[in-house]
Amino acid sequence: MSALQEPRILFITSEVYPLCKTGGLGDVSAALPAALRLQQTDTRLLLPGYPQVLAGVKYKSKVAEFGQLAHYPPSFLLSARLSLSKAENIPVFVIDCPGLFQREGGPYMDALGRDWPDNALRFGLLSKIGAILASDASPLAWRPHIAHCNDWQSGLTPAYLHYHRGKKAATLVTIHNLAYQGVFPPGTVVQLGLPAESFNMHGVEYYGNFSFLKAGLYYADHITTVSPNYAEEIQTDNLGFGLQGLLAARKQHLTGIINGIDTREWNPATDRHLVKNYNNLNLPDKAANKHALQQQMGLAPDPDIPLLGVVSRLNHQKGTDLLIQIAPQLVKLPAQLVVLGSDQAELEHQFSTLVQTYPGSIAVRIGFDEGLSHLIEAGVDCFLMPSRFEPCGLNQMYSQRYGTPPIVHATGGLLDTVVDYNPSTLADGTASGFLFYPMQADTLLHTIQQAIRAYHNKKNWQRLQKNGMAKDFGWPASAATYRQIYLSLLS
Ligand code: ADP
Ligand code: GLC
Repeated sequence: MSALQEPRILFITSEVYPLCKTGGLGDVSAALPAALRLQQTDTRLLLPGYPQVLAGVKYKSKVAEFGQLAHYPPSFLLSARLSLSKAENIPVFVIDCPGLFQREGGPYMDALGRDWPDNALRFGLLSKIGAILASDASPLAWRPHIAHCNDWQSGLTPAYLHYHRGKKAATLVTIHNLAYQGVFPPGTVVQLGLPAESFNMHGVEYYGNFSFLKAGLYYADHITTVSPNYAEEIQTDNLGFGLQGLLAARKQHLTGIINGIDTREWNPATDRHLVKNYNNLNLPDKAANKHALQQQMGLAPDPDIPLLGVVSRLNHQKGTDLLIQIAPQLVKLPAQLVVLGSDQAELEHQFSTLVQTYPGSIAVRIGFDEGLSHLIEAGVDCFLMPSRFEPCGLNQMYSQRYGTPPIVHATGGLLDTVVDYNPSTLADGTASGFLFYPMQADTLLHTIQQAIRAYHNKKNWQRLQKNGMAKDFGWPASAATYRQIYLSLLS
């Protein structure tokens, strides 16, 4: 097969569902490669060998050994398979380096929420091995045409390839979230074996420090991000996180491609985490999930009270602090609120305190719970995403598919995927949720009130639900756009 018929793609990522997921990157790293493989690309993953990855992949075999690379400890490369379903088995390469990856805790942080102190080495190694596999220095016969990097953790692959003199793959960096950049002290350049001369503004340097993401955005042949609107926003002072100048200068090489969702994993008609499955022809069956959720979470069982839900990392980006501010008014509307999330201790504490103040009306589960996240999508009446910024966001798409209109801040990918409810969008059949702007507690409250008025008009509400359920959020269209970009890089 020629490159133009079936390009070979090395998809480098630091997390993948179901083995290791802290957010949307995990979902995308499973579903996008699977969709790409259905579109005549030979896409394979490269992953760090965390304990859950080593335990979860199948058919492992050792295919290479890396001795001392710069200051990196020795490691092995395993070839294996990631099975997503009976029919889907994605080839993966796993970096087995016990000194860097074999430990309890999360992929980026320890159990107490502190960044691992050796993250530069951990993800430097991921980037370095990505670069080796994507060049003529590779010990493998399988050689990719494209190294597709994701977020800062693989941002150094294009930098290493830039300094490789032999044959090499083209590079694409996808920004899932510009807020996380992998910034380390200047000495990192030497520690990770990059030439000292790369430490300048036309290279890996970022305001006096060393930045993985800056390096990726500077050296990559092409950049994508996960929605068209976010691609514009990151070129502005407001949401550019210091990289707006570089991104605006590279805008000819920057494309926004909306994420899709895994429509088999997220399907209310078959979802195994629901107490009752439903579709747009038997929407009343959704109510059984509301009842179960109210019972399970200690909320007053009431089929008619509007139940609002959140599944989110609890941090500044996600704007859930606004919900803490408006909790007293929410409860009085009346409405109930269920929150599943974790991240910043202060927000976790504030949400937990709300449960004591408003028992039966507000329920909170601190932690990560895949099954409960599905039941919330199905069981609540409205899903809340008051994100200050949101590169794409997946939950607003899941919720539309589950007949649960989302209420979202008009930003990033939320603006690209939710159509605001008003008389004209209701009439033309496009309304699918509620957008609020600006990012303030009173506008959010006002929009929730508007949504609740709509909720009490059962006919309009069902139209809104069905519009969302009928939307196509699948991956094929976006995967086809990635494929076109790969091909344009090869021609
Ligand atoms: P982000 O990647 O910024 O966190 P996304 O909306 O793209 O936001 O994706 C978040 C993903 O992580 C979704 O699949 C969501 O359901 C999931 N998620 C977030 N927090 C939790 C949690 N506490 N428990 C279960 N799933 C969660
Ligand atoms: C990031 C973003 C989120 C996006 C996800 C997957 O974590 O915060 O908006 O959906 O990556 O691309």
